[in-house]
Order: sequence, then C-alpha cells, then structure tokens
Amino acid sequence: MSIVDLEAKIPNNVGLRDNKRLLLALEKWQPAFLQWWKDLGPSDFNMHDVYLRTAVGVGKGGWAHFDYVKMPDYRWGIFLADGPEDRKIHFGDHIGAPVWSEVPGEHRNRLRRLIVTQGDTEPASVEQQRKLGHIAPSLYDMRSLFQVNVEEGRHLWAMVYLLHTHFGADGRDEADAMLQRHSGDPDSPRILEAFNEPIETWLDFFCFTTFTDRDGKYQLASLAESGFDPLARSTQFMLTEEAYHMQTGENGIGRILHRTAQLVREGKDPRMVGAMPFEVVQRYINFWASRSMDLFGGEDSTNASESFASGLKGRYREGDGIYKDPRAMDATYRISVPDGDKLVDKDIPLRRAMNAVLLDAYVADCTRIVSRWNRDLEALGVEFRVRFPDKRFHRNQGVYAHYKFAPDGQLIGEGEWTRRHTDWLPTQADRDYVKSCMKACYEPGKFANYIAPPAMGVNERPIDFKYVQFH
Ligand SMILES: [Fe+2]
Ligand SMILES: [Fe+2]
Repeated sequence: MSIVDLEAKIPNNVGLRDNKRLLLALEKWQPAFLQWWKDLGPSDFNMHDVYLRTAVGVGKGGWAHFDYVKMPDYRWGIFLADGPEDRKIHFGDHIGAPVWSEVPGEHRNRLRRLIVTQGDTEPASVEQQRKLGHIAPSLYDMRSLFQVNVEEGRHLWAMVYLLHTHFGADGRDEADAMLQRHSGDPDSPRILEAFNEPIETWLDFFCFTTFTDRDGKYQLASLAESGFDPLARSTQFMLTEEAYHMQTGENGIGRILHRTAQLVREGKDPRMVGAMPFEVVQRYINFWASRSMDLFGGEDSTNASESFASGLKGRYREGDGIYKDPRAMDATYRISVPDGDKLVDKDIPLRRAMNAVLLDAYVADCTRIVSRWNRDLEALGVEFRVRFPDKRFHRNQGVYAHYKFAPDGQLIGEGEWTRRHTDWLPTQADRDYVKSCMKACYEPGKFANYIAPPAMGVNERPIDFKYVQFH
C-alpha cells in the first residue's frame, strides 16, 4: 500500500517529497493553475463554503473526506491506484512482458498524445460549466456542479503529473498549454469538439455529465488497461471520481423527466409552468449523445490499431478476461457503411475496429440508463419513452460523418434531413425556452419547478442540508 502524504502542499501518494525537481516543477505550475481557476473556473462562487468530497487516499473504502471547503482551497492531489508489483502487459503485441514504469522511446509520441488529449478535456469542461452556479436549480445541485468541477481540476493535475514526470521539457510545455487552450476560443480551442460546445443550461449540464463524462469513463477505462503503468494507475483512480459525475447526469435527467411526468399526470402543460417538455429533453439527448459518440474517433482506425498493438490502450475491461483473444489478431469486426443510398456490411480487422468496440460498450451502457429513465416514466403512468439515438445519427467523426441518418439509424437523403432535423435536434426556440426556465433556487430543500428533488442527499445529509453556505 502506497503512503499518502496529506500534509504536503500537493497531497499525493507518489512520493513527491523525495523528488525535489518534480516537486519544484509542479509547485511552479500550481499558481498558474490557481490563476486559471480564478479566471475561467466557477469564479463567482470562490468565497462560499461548499460541502465537498476530497480524495484522501486510494483504498477501496473511505478514500474520500467530506467537509465545507472554499473551492480555491480545495486540495487537488495526485493519486495513483495501488496495483500488483509484477503487473504484466495483458493485450497486444507485448503480451506477457512486464509493464513499463518509464515511457518506452518508441511509444513516446503516441503516449504523449493520449495523455494530452485526455488531460485537455478536464479543464475544458470546467470552463464550459463556469456560469451554471448562477442558475442552479437548488443548493444540492449547485454542490454537485462544484464537486464535478473540482474533481475535473484534480484530473488535470493527474495528467499534468504524468507529463511533468515522464516527458521532460516537452511535457512541461504541454502542461502549460493545458491552461492556454480554452473552450470555445476561436484562436486556441480545446482539442475535441464536444468540449468547445457551450453549456448554458442545466439540461445541457445533465446531458453532458450523462453522455460526455461517460465517454470519459470509457476512455479512462481503456487507458486503465495500459502497459504504461503510471497511466494505468492514474486513470484507474480517476474512474472512482468519474462515477459520481455520471450519476449526477443520470439522476439529473431522471429528475427532470420525473417532474415533467408528474405535471403531465396533473393535466398541466409543462411549457406553462417552466418545466421541460419531453420532446425537448429528447432533442437535447440526441444532440449530446451524438456529440459524445464522436469522441470515440473513427470506427476504422489505424491509429486505434497501433495503440492496441503497442499495449497502450486496451478494450473496456480487457483485464477481466472477457475477450476471446487478448491479441485480437485474426478476428474481424463487421460494420455497416454507406454505399450510395444504402448500407453495406464490411468486415475490418478487429484491431482497426478498437474505437468501434469501445463505442459499442458505451452504447450498451447508455441504453441501460435510458431504460432506467423509461421504467420510472412507466411507473408514473405517462406514455412518453426516451430513445437513445442510433450511433449513426448526427455524426461528425467516423464512417457516418457526411451522411444523413434519422435517430433510428435509417439512411436518409438531404431533403428529408432538411425537413425533419428540427424534430430531432434542439432548435433555437428550444434553447430559448430552456434558458427561460433557468431560475436560481438557493433556498435549502427547494427546487426549481422543472426538476424533482433527488431520492436522497449527499453523504447521508438530508436533502434540505445547506450544501453551499454563502458569504
Ligand atoms: Fe474527469
Ligand atoms: Fe468527469
């Protein structure tokens, strides 16, 4: 079990105290991070006390501590999950070889790109969400937002630690650049498209945490299989925190649907009382689900094949032995690709389909969440059911980009798309309406009219607990 140093300026279990050069480099980066937090984080709420969870260790139980904290004083620490001493690479070409504790020269560029791309998403989402505190539907939800924000900050620390420790001067430059690119900045945007989309309402936020953070889960999980041990252990621990972000999203959308269902049952028109019509929620889901599926990259990808072959990025739960061949050598993956006005099946080598395989695991997960929402709608006696859009719908990346598909996956022509896309994706009128519902509700235990209260509070506190204390 690693030793956790909680007294240090940067709490950690990576022995920072004994690595003076690294410590100095990170201590130099820290003020830039704090400045970034103040400029582009949830800056207007920095003086308030927020009831937050802080990671204090990596043990299975009791890894977190809850207390009131002012966000700039949050202890952003660096934690690697504990793992067996003699871990072996368990997929790809180097199977059976000991894992790397240092970056192998031949994989250096690829690994750096993987870490930078992952790292860039963490501060990006904080930037996207920075104004939401002003329109929080409750103190409970405001706390959730800030919990997600500080943990994304910690995930940035986790990636910056890897860059500083293992990539020398280039790594330090990359760490600086993480604070220089900004979400939606026309000159210096964040790397991935979904992380440049504005998040202006809580409906966007809950869709983002459900679908985009969930892409994060699958990316982190595939990196947690990595033969580069520090990356595997770092992302493994990030997954623990990420679970809460996805729960925030799933519960948030669930509570919005629940509230609408209640109103419909009472014979009320949601639009008359500042709540979310079902079809608007569905269009937001279609938008964020498709943007998030783009994050998986091309379904047929030599890049993905090489990351797998080199042992850098595995499949979801690769280590659990659920796949027949850990080398993925001879198998193929069948994919339907557009050819004129129809779809034709094509078999590609499995290794080249690693992004598609990961996307399939994601879609299965999303489908389970949608069924949970639908079970609640059924129990409430309303007819509406949420549908998860097909992976071909509204894609900007991969084999389906540049073609038009309906949400059920049917290939359609431009004409039909032009006629019908406003049924499927949020319109300006939807966005204006959703924005008009965004009224702050700061009274403990009270909720904006478009969202039902949660089933329970945080850390066994009651729902009307003062999750944020204003000063
Ligand atoms: Fe994260
Ligand atoms: Fe997250």
